[in-house]
Amino acid sequence: MTAAGGIIREVIIGACRLILGDARDVLPELVGVADVVASDLPYKLTSGGNAGGSMKGKFAPDEYDNGGELFDIVRWSEIGGPIYRACKKNADIYIMANDKNLFPAFGGFTGAGFKFHNFLTWDKISPTRNRWYMKELEYTLYLWKGNARTITNCGSKQRFECPRPKGVDWHSTPKPVPLMAHYINNSSDVGATVLDPFAGTGATLLAAAAFGRRSIGIEVNETYFDLLCERVEDAYRCGFEGIRAECAAAEAAQSAASRRAV
Ligand SMILES: C[S@@+](CC[C@H](N)C(=O)[O-])C[C@H]1O[C@@H](n2cnc3c(N)ncnc32)[C@H](O)[C@@H]1O
Repeated sequence: MTAAGGIIREVIIGACRLILGDARDVLPELVGVADVVASDLPYKLTSGGNAGGSMKGKFAPDEYDNGGELFDIVRWSEIGGPIYRACKKNADIYIMANDKNLFPAFGGFTGAGFKFHNFLTWDKISPTRNRWYMKELEYTLYLWKGNARTITNCGSKQRFECPRPKGVDWHSTPKPVPLMAHYINNSSDVGATVLDPFAGTGATLLAAAAFGRRSIGIEVNETYFDLLCERVEDAYRCGFEGIRAECAAAEAAQSAASRRAV
């Protein structure tokens, strides 16, 4: 039994509004709320063949027998529209996907009305072994709605180098908070509202809160939702100092990498 709009439970922690529910049911209730969307949708993963050491641990093929689906899959074609309507008149959105999902994701989001700015990448530094080239990159579609906004730091490169997050072993695909902070800070001002309809460990929400933005996160899995609430509460208790320091270090590392490239 859910409340109106598919909201099963709602928790407010500081400037974060956390909603337990299916994004497909909840998003229609959130019209025109977001200045920025930064999200990593549940998409199909592939094992990378039989190269020695490929896709081990929680990603090993034996760990999931659903043809590569770690989570219930949300179709790209069904989610672009609800996210478009959840955005304000002018908004930037960052949608993460692996190589195989990039083109369907592009179709789903441009088909919904978003305009395409750029492909960005997250360089995870430690690649996964693969028969068909190791994969050290994940991709982000950077799109906009309405009037295009100039990013805050025009010295930002397409590639953002950052190790995989630690301390969130309870989730299979956590994203690094510094990466999400990089996107959010480039595409919004203090006080803006950031939306992540597939919140997972809450990397987007933590990044938003650490830099003075409001946020709305939706997560369908109740176990993840409870752990996500705990993580956000802990961050508020610690005053975000550790998170801000981690983000500053990651930004400094990008600057060093840029200097090497010139
Ligand atoms: C790829 S993960 C996101 C990881 C997140 N970016 C992070 O840093 O932890 C996708 C998340 O969406 C959740 N999810 C899957 N289907 C959903 C749905 N229909 N509505 C809301 N959340 C959903 C999954 O439980 C999972 O936690």
